[in-house]
Amino acid sequence: MAQRVIIPRLGQTMTEGTVAKWLAAQDQRVNAGDPVYELEYDKATAVVEAKKSGIFKRLAEEGAKAAVGETVGVILEEGEKLEDILSQKTFTVANSAKAASGSLYTQPEPEKKEAPKAAYTPPASFKCTGDCPRNKPANSTDTIVIGGGPGGYVAALRLALLGAKVTLVEKDTLGGTCLNRGCIPTKALLQSAEMYTACLQAAEFGVKAEQVSFDYSVVCTRRKKTVDALVGGVKGLLKARKVEVISGEAAFEGPHTINVKLSDGTEKKLTADNIIIASGSVPAKPPIPGLDGKNVITSDEALVLESIPESMVIIGGGVIGMELAMVFSSFNCTVTVVEALPEILPGIDGEIAKNYRRIAAKRMAIYSGAAVASVTDAGDAKCVLFNKEGNEQKIEAQYVLVATGRRPETAALQLGAAGIKAERGRITVDDKWRTNIAGVYCIGDANGKTMLAHAASAQGIDAADLIMGHTPDAKRHRVIPACIYTDPEIASVGRTEEQLKNEGMDYKASKFSFRANGRALTLGKAEGFVKILSDKVHNEVLGVHIMGPNATELIGECALAMRMECCLEELAETIHAHPTLGEAVMEAAEAGLFGAIHSL
Ligand code: NAI
Repeated sequence: MAQRVIIPRLGQTMTEGTVAKWLAAQDQRVNAGDPVYELEYDKATAVVEAKKSGIFKRLAEEGAKAAVGETVGVILEEGEKLEDILSQKTFTVANSAKAASGSLYTQPEPEKKEAPKAAYTPPASFKCTGDCPRNKPANSTDTIVIGGGPGGYVAALRLALLGAKVTLVEKDTLGGTCLNRGCIPTKALLQSAEMYTACLQAAEFGVKAEQVSFDYSVVCTRRKKTVDALVGGVKGLLKARKVEVISGEAAFEGPHTINVKLSDGTEKKLTADNIIIASGSVPAKPPIPGLDGKNVITSDEALVLESIPESMVIIGGGVIGMELAMVFSSFNCTVTVVEALPEILPGIDGEIAKNYRRIAAKRMAIYSGAAVASVTDAGDAKCVLFNKEGNEQKIEAQYVLVATGRRPETAALQLGAAGIKAERGRITVDDKWRTNIAGVYCIGDANGKTMLAHAASAQGIDAADLIMGHTPDAKRHRVIPACIYTDPEIASVGRTEEQLKNEGMDYKASKFSFRANGRALTLGKAEGFVKILSDKVHNEVLGVHIMGPNATELIGECALAMRMECCLEELAETIHAHPTLGEAVMEAAEAGLFGAIHSL
């Protein structure tokens, strides 16, 4: 039976393709696997191969564009005639590839001329249109950025690179939560914790490290030095790119006017055509009685504690809870995590969360399905009361750390004065980070979409580009990697198994254990695995979930693969250097195809 040569679907978002070049001649005898034509689609070029042997007939001219699934050629068996095949009801030829005026060849549809895209070169000078604040007297600026965290300072730098005149208003220290109270200090502390743990395990590696101890004041000094170096770097970049930094707290007085309470007590009004709100978030405390008492802290205070407490109850087993549980337990603090949901790390792939819990439980006590009811004083200690399976239980500890989520910091902005819409503190934005007020954008935690530093930076770049007349690619926000700096590390990108099940996707999971990876064994860090979720029809990568050494670095390759809409074949066929942890990604992809070389 004749075999249709079609436009195959090579990505979830692919809708059409172009026959860029025929590789098989008209009437050529082809064998299964022979290249037939070069297909061009929005992402890349691919070679389409013959699925069976026979005589090949072209039904389209080079350059013909057709929808996914449409026929552009046919492979005939011995004795079959093309005319007979084409007359069959079941054999429909693509509109754009249909034989024209009796010819077997097709006439490509006239190509729609796309408007030329603006070249991505920064303009020599920023040109304002309409009611340009540059034409106004003093205190005018092209763009105001409110907030100097990884969303705001990145947006300001991008705007400056593209030629805009930018004013950045920050009420605290440049660098925001990420540099001062989040990602960076946590990772600095975790690095000291890892070094201490490694010294304790030195004998395993044949290294003598006797009487190992730590000096937490030095750990803190190092943390502070690291933070200061990065904050200084941001300050230097803003200065070099001529971004005016104003130290004070901003509040709206109108859609394009803000009032800044300066650090010296005076006030300053600023107007701009464009304003980017990047005010971030603060720790959220649930309405549990006793959370305002002494020694009840949030991540803000936990990161600047000057000594390690003897014991700590952490309320909330999310990302912040589990990262800080790792820091404090590594430095010999007795840690108990109390999580309301049935499993820790909600939102993370269930298999990863379950496996991580098994490992973490060797270092700390973990109660899940346990909602905290109250926190009271018990002498010098704190007493945390929680309900598990209908039974009231209590735990005493020196400190209670509340890690139950964060909320956007938008209350002081007086959004109402500008008519900016928000819902429960989250500023409402569209897919280009535009609020309901023309020229006012909101990026990062303040819009509550994806509360991650790198998501805020990417949104900031988009908003800056849009202001400067470039069109950002909204699709890139479909692929955002997430990392958890625990031991072992966890990283993921794309959908989890739970999400795919809910969506009714026909997917498969393929895994590779770090126990079979040479580099992981030499590092003495063989716990964990790489899990790739792919669709059963095209093998397209839908999600990657890693627990193991350097998972947070390995996820970069996987994010790129998903952005490029790669299939398992691309990950498996890419030659990875040996011995590297990345080979585990390659072998997890192999496992989803025909089997991984190093696993049974
Ligand atoms: P989260 O939402 O990840 O976790 C909070 C946890 O607290 C949840 O599991 C919740 O069920 C639990 N909880 C709430 N009320 C409770 C109660 N009464 N008793 C017991 N448990 C309760 O929030 P988290 O960990 O505070 O993180 C905040 C944000 O910061 C997240 O969006 C996170 O993605 C981001 N972040 C990201 C980091 C990273 O990428 N490495 C690091 C730190 C924060």
